[in-house]
Amino acid sequence: MTALDVDFVRSQFPAFADPRLADWAHLENAGGSYVPRQVIDLLTDFYVSCKVQPYYDGDPSRRAGAAMDRAKALLPATLGALPHEVMLGPSTSQNTYVLARALREQFTAGDEIVVTNQDHEANVGAWRRLERSGIRVREWQVDPASGLLHLDGLRALLSERTRLVAVTHASNLAATVNPVREIADLVHGVGGLLAVDGVSYAPHAALDVTALGCDFYFYSAYKTFGPHLGVMFARSEQLARISNQGHFFNVGHPTYRLTPAGPDHAEIAAAAGIVDYYHAVVAHHDGAAAGDDVSAVRRAFELFGQQEQALMPALVELLTAKYGVHLVGSPSADHAVRAPTFAFWSERRPSADIYRDLVAAGINCGYGHFYAYRLVRALGLDPEDEVVRLSLVHYNTAAEVERALDVLEKAL
Ligand SMILES: Cc1ncc(COP(=O)(O)O)c(C=O)c1O
Repeated sequence: MTALDVDFVRSQFPAFADPRLADWAHLENAGGSYVPRQVIDLLTDFYVSCKVQPYYDGDPSRRAGAAMDRAKALLPATLGALPHEVMLGPSTSQNTYVLARALREQFTAGDEIVVTNQDHEANVGAWRRLERSGIRVREWQVDPASGLLHLDGLRALLSERTRLVAVTHASNLAATVNPVREIADLVHGVGGLLAVDGVSYAPHAALDVTALGCDFYFYSAYKTFGPHLGVMFARSEQLARISNQGHFFNVGHPTYRLTPAGPDHAEIAAAAGIVDYYHAVVAHHDGAAAGDDVSAVRRAFELFGQQEQALMPALVELLTAKYGVHLVGSPSADHAVRAPTFAFWSERRPSADIYRDLVAAGINCGYGHFYAYRLVRALGLDPEDEVVRLSLVHYNTAAEVERALDVLEKAL
């Protein structure tokens, strides 16, 4: 089995050659990943050579439109979706906000929506706002000891009044993969829709929205090696019914319906570089082009997943077995069970102190509630001292993990 050539991978990311970053191990990828040269080159080229209104007749304008169209043609492969089912907005938070507003017109007072207290607020608050329109919001709650969601909790909430369930694929703190297909079957069984936040899952595995069975799926390209955009999938049947949130004269463009704001043209063009990067990884490892884009995405994530898997056990071991540490979510070190994101706290030392020790040693990590505010409250944590988070992706190395472990051994 070919192992990921991490040196090659890192050579694709200019950040790893920048002297200002040389002393830092970037272990806060769940907050935002580094960007490969394929994306940076497209962004620079757009700004330099065609930063004009796209889709007019002049050459710069035509090139701008073509660059954007290229990204729109490539990105559906990252979801296994059809081109007209994928929309690009400024962020996932804004995409869920617009979607919830659009769906509100299909719901009537007394209808029910299920949200969780495991999700990032992006996939909670937008839906909770619909309470103001008479929608009843019910909460699928985590087990307060583990931070995990169990299907029985959902089963107890579903009814013929359920119109939508909003759940994360893998929380940005609990990191544990929720069984989206099973959830989809349960929700569809009562005639509801399923909206899945894949922001914390998408950097770690290839997606297939058809196999997942969800109606809406969101991820943020700035965490999957791309520019700061939110990527939203809406299944064709749903998109056809959805109330248009864009300008009235654009109603005939399905992908404009849920993106009322003018998009960031340059960032859309640059997003094609994400898929170009996956192709480059596959070509390097397999000695040949991957063929179609979906195959390239799948093969790249197979390689990424093996590397991430290799990095996980040492961290899980330290964060589950010693020093009165509590790891949020599953204690499994299996990449199929959890993403390589580790949020934890210790009975012995304040999280703020552990975080400061890590940063002082050049470990770029995070501290706080990470907008999974309800989850941190459900775990019963001190609002003044929440969790520390280390989050890896495929370009991280065993040496970087070792560095973090050394600091943690002392800090804890
Ligand atoms: C799991 C999860 N969902 C949603 C979001 C919100 O994404 P955005 O910043 O694109 O609004 C984040 C951001 O950190 C996240 O981690």
